[in-house]
Amino acid sequence: MRKNVVVGNWKMNTTVAEAVELASAIAERIGSGEAGCEIGIAPPFVSLTEVGKVVGQSGIMLAAQNCHFESDGAFTGEVSVRMLEAAGCSCVILGHSERRQYFGETNAIVNRKVRKALDGGLKVILCVGETLEQRQQGVTEDIVTTQVREGLDGVDDVSRVVIAYEPVWAIGTGKTATSQQAQEVHASIRETVREMFGEAAAAEMRIQYGGSVKPANAAELFAMPDIDGGLIGGASLKADDFIAIVEAAR
Ligand code: G3H
Repeated sequence: MRKNVVVGNWKMNTTVAEAVELASAIAERIGSGEAGCEIGIAPPFVSLTEVGKVVGQSGIMLAAQNCHFESDGAFTGEVSVRMLEAAGCSCVILGHSERRQYFGETNAIVNRKVRKALDGGLKVILCVGETLEQRQQGVTEDIVTTQVREGLDGVDDVSRVVIAYEPVWAIGTGKTATSQQAQEVHASIRETVREMFGEAAAAEMRIQYGGSVKPANAAELFAMPDIDGGLIGGASLKADDFIAIVEAAR
């Protein structure tokens, strides 16, 4: 039986002080992070250490929003897996559409990051999703399948991987995919995982939905058979909304 996983991706929002305040509000009210649903938050890099102190033993998973694919060296501005672990992270979000769109991350780059993070002992949330143009052209399944196949190429063990399906046209736009639209893509992702890693891995793989998830639509999305929680952007910046979404996943 898969446990839902809800993660707040704070993106480039919050100063350290604001991040600590938001994390405190979530940690105080959420109780045990493990009850019925795995919960995570992904603040900006500079806040990880301080937010890590706040979430401490709460069971809330501390995640980063990116990492580099090399272990260390002359990569100005980049952050390594080892640095994330030292800061208290146990998870990293990789291949987010904003990284693909604004920072030129290809499936090959995402794959190098995925393998580096898994080798280093982190859990990975691998983000995939089609643009509006791709959906209109009818190539959603091809695009998402390729992202999953190439993103997980060369990975032996996917037990520490979560896949987040985020249609690009639904991110930050207020336009959520309908639960049926999302379910269709989630089922096809699970089929790809089955082809690549077998029946058991596919049955255990958590596939989150992301894209304008709000308290008002979370329960309907999470009720779908292949939707195992959410990757939450805007609504994760308000403790009340994030907690309501977590409740819908419990
Ligand atoms: O990582 C989160 C997603 O990009 C969703 O963002 O909830 O603001 O649409 P959103």
